[in-house]
Amino acid sequence: MSVDAGLPHRPGAPGRLDTRPSGRVSSCPPPRDAETLGGHTARQLLRLCETAGLSGPDSASYARTLLTALGPVGERPLDLPSPDDSFLSDDHTPVEFSLALTPGAAPTLRVVLEPGCGAPDLARNGHTGLEAVRAMGRRWGFDTGRLDQLEDLFFPSDPQGPFALWCALEMVPGGIPRVKVYLNPAASGQERSAATVRKALRRLGHRRAFAALPEGDRHLFFALDLGEWDEPRVKVYLAHHDMSAAEAARLSRVDGGPGPAEIASFFRTMAGHDADGTEPREGRDPRLDLRPVQSCHAFTETAAERPSGFTLYIPVRDYARHDGEALDRALAVLGRYGIDPAPLLSSLSAVTPRRLRDGVGLVAYVGLAHQVGRPTRVTTYISSEAYAVRPPAVGAAPSRRRPTAG
Ligand code: TRP
Repeated sequence: MSVDAGLPHRPGAPGRLDTRPSGRVSSCPPPRDAETLGGHTARQLLRLCETAGLSGPDSASYARTLLTALGPVGERPLDLPSPDDSFLSDDHTPVEFSLALTPGAAPTLRVVLEPGCGAPDLARNGHTGLEAVRAMGRRWGFDTGRLDQLEDLFFPSDPQGPFALWCALEMVPGGIPRVKVYLNPAASGQERSAATVRKALRRLGHRRAFAALPEGDRHLFFALDLGEWDEPRVKVYLAHHDMSAAEAARLSRVDGGPGPAEIASFFRTMAGHDADGTEPREGRDPRLDLRPVQSCHAFTETAAERPSGFTLYIPVRDYARHDGEALDRALAVLGRYGIDPAPLLSSLSAVTPRRLRDGVGLVAYVGLAHQVGRPTRVTTYISSEAYAVRPPAVGAAPSRRRPTAG
């Protein structure tokens, strides 16, 4: 069966998608300028869908959804530079994949994308994004009312900050994704971002949520689940600069879930801090000082005093020399939770043929996620690298930098 989703066929392309057993591989690949951003990322998505066990028709439908959501930048030749400086990924590809992994269950494949990428300014980027999400709502019959209610807060006429709107799709069987929208709390200015988050939470009825958040250095994202979710969430993401494992262990405000020791151990493994076996002592814990750790706090019940979900994200790419190292750490964590590593391994090769040690950033983040009443999940964020591969770091692992004082 061929899952070509109507994409132009590229004989001989690495990991080509024509799975018909013709046995013929062209020795003369077409010129690279035949490839487009949309074609490249949609092929990555098709291969990922296949490894995630989605059917051919579902995979094809998700690839088309990606192309529709990307709009005109999808048709841009891949040889041209990225359409803009999208904050979504390090090489500015407006697409990032992720896998949510739990013990004994099929992985969930997701994709985050920026529908407004390539717009002439952030205001138009945001409006393109809003329109794309509303079009999905019309197509799949979900209500965007909760997003519409927040329009003035997140889409001012002269928006600030690193992005306007991202949209994530969880590619569940059936071809209709679960949709999430990410908004920028700094849209009306960085100094207003806490107030923006507080107002947005209140408007959605979560009157006690803001007070339940831990301290952070910056509000990074405000996210909404839209469509067919069992329990749609509102999520607030915080950045934490120079954080240590012991500090990260105290960020969760959820009842139950991974305790402080478990969170600290996840942090140390992903940061590479337990590689030398030394017991960290309070105050001597190394800090992640290159790119901030992030925490996410999810709210479901409006009356609840506490969040129902907590996730800690470690930007492993900034603290590992190469992706082989990043993957080893992720595998150690998966092993601890009894999670089958095969889907992660096959997903990495679905996205790129390169050797893991030849670059860093394919594995962008690894998260440890807990939602009340559900098993702990490990989420792994996989870069498209459509435009660039970051070269591996030379010398000592960035994770081995010691704190300067105390
Ligand atoms: N590229 C941004 C960053 O690295 C945003 C981002 C993309 C992100 N994927 C993510 C943040 C996953 C947290 C988790 O921060």
